[in-house]
Amino acid sequence: MDQPVTIALTKGRILKETLPLLAEAGIVPAEDISRSRKLIFETNHPHINLIVIRGTDVPTYVKLGSADIGVAGKDMLLELGAGDMYEPLDLNIARCKLMTAGRVDEPLPQGRVRVATKFVNVARRHFAERGIQVELIKLYGAMELAPLMNLADLIVDIVDTGNTLRANGMEPRDMISDVSSRLVVNKAAMKRKYKSIQDIIAKLTVAVEARRDAEEVAGNG
Ligand code: PRP
Repeated sequence: MDQPVTIALTKGRILKETLPLLAEAGIVPAEDISRSRKLIFETNHPHINLIVIRGTDVPTYVKLGSADIGVAGKDMLLELGAGDMYEPLDLNIARCKLMTAGRVDEPLPQGRVRVATKFVNVARRHFAERGIQVELIKLYGAMELAPLMNLADLIVDIVDTGNTLRANGMEPRDMISDVSSRLVVNKAAMKRKYKSIQDIIAKLTVAVEARRDAEEVAGNG
């Protein structure tokens, strides 16, 4: 008998890319998640349930063991810390970059730099490593607005296409980290439910590698 496993998924953009990968790994929700207001979903495997929550909450659920497995952006893991979680697999989806950005051609002010971000821990480490004094301003979205409204000199944010920066007269500056979604696993659950969890990791690993192989073939063709 397989032990019950709960997988916490990050809603929004990451979810859209996670569901096809899960399907390729043979894990399919019992109903259409995008058309439902429910937060818990059964799947085609009686022992696997999915919960759909905000990215900032996925590490909390997995660290505290309410979910056994999670799908979380590397940005969130860098910000919130790995804690009691393993990170066994890079799912290679929802790829983007964590960067600093500022207004086009605007030099940094002398002295303390005001940095607006929702990634305050990432930003604190980044600027401390460079010996730059910063005042961190925590925001929860629309970071690109902060320099335009003179709330901050720089932002630390996710950059994907760069369209949001360009549309707001801003430019990328320092690269902080490549970002993609990762599988995380609660350490205690990994011991208790070893077989079920390893089975899910193995299925997803095969699906991720199959995509890599297909990309390579397409790249060489
Ligand atoms: C993210 C990020 C940027 C944008 C970058 O926001 O905060 O605003 O995407 O993407 P781009 O380089 O392709 O323009 P998202 O839409 O995820 O919403 P959020 O503000 O809630 O994070």
